[in-house]
Amino acid sequence: MTPEEVAVLVDLLGEPTAVTYAPPNVYPMSAPAFREAADLDRPPRRGAPVGVYAHVPFCNYKCSFCFYVTRPVPAGDEMARYVAALERELEGVPEGTPLTQAYVGGGTPTALPPDLLDRLLASVFARVRRDPEGEVHTVECSPESLTDAHVEVLRRRGVERVSMGVQTNDPGVLEATRRRHDEGQVRAACERLVSAGFVVNVDLIYGLPGQTEAGFRRDFETVAGHGVHSLTCYNLRVNEHTPIARRLSEAERFDAVRLVRWREVAQAAARDAGFAQTRWHTFRRVRPETAQGAAARFRDVTGWGDQWSVGVSARSRLDDVVYRNSKDPETYVARVEAGRTPVEEVHPLSDAERRLRFVGLTLGDGWPLVRADYEAAFQTAFDDDFGAAISRLAEAGVVADEGERVTLTDKGRLVYDLATRAFYPESVRRRMDERQALAATAPNLRPMR
Ligand SMILES: C[S@@+](CC[C@H](N)C(=O)[O-])C[C@H]1O[C@@H](n2cnc3c(N)ncnc32)[C@H](O)[C@@H]1O
Ligand code: SF4
Repeated sequence: MTPEEVAVLVDLLGEPTAVTYAPPNVYPMSAPAFREAADLDRPPRRGAPVGVYAHVPFCNYKCSFCFYVTRPVPAGDEMARYVAALERELEGVPEGTPLTQAYVGGGTPTALPPDLLDRLLASVFARVRRDPEGEVHTVECSPESLTDAHVEVLRRRGVERVSMGVQTNDPGVLEATRRRHDEGQVRAACERLVSAGFVVNVDLIYGLPGQTEAGFRRDFETVAGHGVHSLTCYNLRVNEHTPIARRLSEAERFDAVRLVRWREVAQAAARDAGFAQTRWHTFRRVRPETAQGAAARFRDVTGWGDQWSVGVSARSRLDDVVYRNSKDPETYVARVEAGRTPVEEVHPLSDAERRLRFVGLTLGDGWPLVRADYEAAFQTAFDDDFGAAISRLAEAGVVADEGERVTLTDKGRLVYDLATRAFYPESVRRRMDERQALAATAPNLRPMR
């Protein structure tokens, strides 16, 4: 897109925000508004299908861009105590509950020693009923932490997909972001996972300090050459509390033109390597042999339906209420050990928010938005709720309105996050503006003198 074309979209959709949290289609995490609710019990599950997320906060280092709740790998028995707390929290899922999807993330689950990872996975799968033809279960890892013993545990416990954070192979950018792995470890980890038969995804980030377009393209090509099934390319999301906010030069911060430019670079790198865009940020290998088995079945459904999430800072979503566990690891473990609920915050989703989530998750995940599906879910006419927004987006060439369904166009895929904001209710937009104004005063976001 030319800068002039981007300017037209900015007039309609606004500039990217300086501070972003979760990807914008993952509402309400993209605009969090929890209220305190210490000691709130989650409603008991009564056999309805549920997704399970387990958060492992340990990492071998703290990346300068990362805003997840993490902590350095501790000495002593802290990891074993933490896993025991997760096991206890998992008891909230009644035996025989049908499992929609399991996702073990972090942090870095493979920072756990293999025996503890084994215990955790055994507990995740112990009580639920798995459908062998159903959703594909994922564990996250990092290149330097993955060993043969971890791979064996993942295989034995029936995990089918592994998602590995790489971000970049460029030694200067790795150093600037405080990551401690190198290209050889990335290659070895990819080859180990691919040859063991997992569906393998690798995460890259663009817009990191000192990163060049040519460097990003090289990273994509190199990782694709290791045989992985998909690459997920995130734009750097800047949180005002992370050290990276201070390291970025003015010229590195995203305005709409730079953001679109980076996304075009990612699309071109993917195309050249034989990958097609599926979700807004994910590219999947096109070659036929990967369109089989678990690789073809995989969809991220963690945003849909009920979700029982365990661990520090984990967010459960049950009957359209979002519960957030304590963000402090010691408090989390102490509460669970004492038999108390770890929940500290809550956010019931309003009707408007539930509708926004539906639209954001559908379009954001690259699916067509079918008017009849919306109307069946909410018993209300889609156009009464979003007709005006859709007309504006269609006029700007961001979505294609085909009557029965609405899809993002190629142009729309480049600005999917700005486009998603067009569906946010006025009250949420106001809240986001207030949060932006507050973030702008944070020391890390003020220019250094
Ligand atoms: C929780 S990490 C899991 C992988 C593992 N801990 C690692 O980093 O190797 C999940 C992914 O979130 C992405 N991520 C973390 N912080 C981010 C940020 N500030 N902006 C964009 N993506 C980010 C990274 O791509 C990372 O791989
Ligand atoms: S990006 Fe991954 S390895 Fe780095 S601190 Fe965050 S969770 Fe840990």
